[in-house]
Amino acid sequence: MTETLATIDTPAALIESTRMQRNIQRMQRHMNELGVRFRPHVKTSKCIEVAKAQRDAGALGITVSTLKEVEQFFAEGFTDILYAVGMAPHRLPHALELRRRGCALGILTDSVASARAIVEFGRASGEAFDVLIEVDTDGHRSGIKPEEDALIEVGRVLHEGGMRLGGVLTHAGSSYELDTPEALKAMAEQERSACVRAAQRLGGAGLPCPVVSVGSTPTALAADALDGVTEVRAGVYVFFDLVMRNIGVCTEDDIALSVLTTVIGHQADKGWAIVDAGWMAMSRDRGTQKQKWDFGYGQICDAQGRVLDGYVLSGANQEHGILSREGEADADIAARFPVGTRLRILPNHACATGAQFPEYHALSDDGSLRAWGRFHGW
Ligand SMILES: Cc1ncc(COP(=O)(O)O)c(C=O)c1O
Repeated sequence: MTETLATIDTPAALIESTRMQRNIQRMQRHMNELGVRFRPHVKTSKCIEVAKAQRDAGALGITVSTLKEVEQFFAEGFTDILYAVGMAPHRLPHALELRRRGCALGILTDSVASARAIVEFGRASGEAFDVLIEVDTDGHRSGIKPEEDALIEVGRVLHEGGMRLGGVLTHAGSSYELDTPEALKAMAEQERSACVRAAQRLGGAGLPCPVVSVGSTPTALAADALDGVTEVRAGVYVFFDLVMRNIGVCTEDDIALSVLTTVIGHQADKGWAIVDAGWMAMSRDRGTQKQKWDFGYGQICDAQGRVLDGYVLSGANQEHGILSREGEADADIAARFPVGTRLRILPNHACATGAQFPEYHALSDDGSLRAWGRFHGW
């Protein structure tokens, strides 16, 4: 029997194919207009079918956050892969093995200690690793600041140690704290100019720096000029989510990932409907809590995906979700959402919600569903 939205077990992670394609086209078009190569971060979906759709639209290479992703995507024919998390020395033998099997795997460092470990291991095994230096352009996370002496020192250690110094990479994650077009544009420019500055300093020191790689979904979409940048990375744009909606780079109608859930009971006096999607389905991510609109654990939609304004998943236990109306309690909740009603919930953070599920169900406009696998673990 072919599954439909009415028969499939819940909770289930749905991908609206048309919306996803629209999101992919939007980003790729913008990158083409800016004249830069686009390397999507596939940690959002960890799904072959999604990455293939990004590649078909024009993406060149992929970015990953674990060597498990490298394994899985390489097995499916993706060869140009950037592992964009600082390299831990104990992972070098695995990285070497992947390269020996033909994977063009790039790795990342932001310290002299880790650069030395890469050089030592590379020399001992006769491998010239492709290495990017992570640059900190917003004080958000890891990386070397463009003006720090360590930038040149790391470059020298790698280059003189016989590794292939690929260039610089940054991720302006603090763009997630912004919510106006002006602030996003300014952050995109800060990300660009600081990363280009790091590249210029390496060049000035006589070191190679062919790649200047920047990106987060908000800055990628806000950028209107990327002079000096060779490559952009973005991940969550493929699905979007409520955090991105609050930042202002999408609307609810762009969100391609949702959780299909079933009403299992009520606390009518409190104005609650109980659904079978708790935090095990939605994740614990409360990313909208500090933003301009708090959606609880998610925005409620009907089974067709139409937003039901004011209804949110206000609470979540492991397998129970509490659906309620913001403001005044809904006295008719039991009649509005009888037991057995199917609803959809838009997630706060698509990467976190997707990660709760072993597979997605890709929903076509004709209502048909296809199962797409999803990787887990490291
Ligand atoms: C190194 C790196 N590049 C790119 C991204 C993509 O960011 P986003 O999901 O905002 O598109 C991330 C996300 O955390 C990242 O860590």
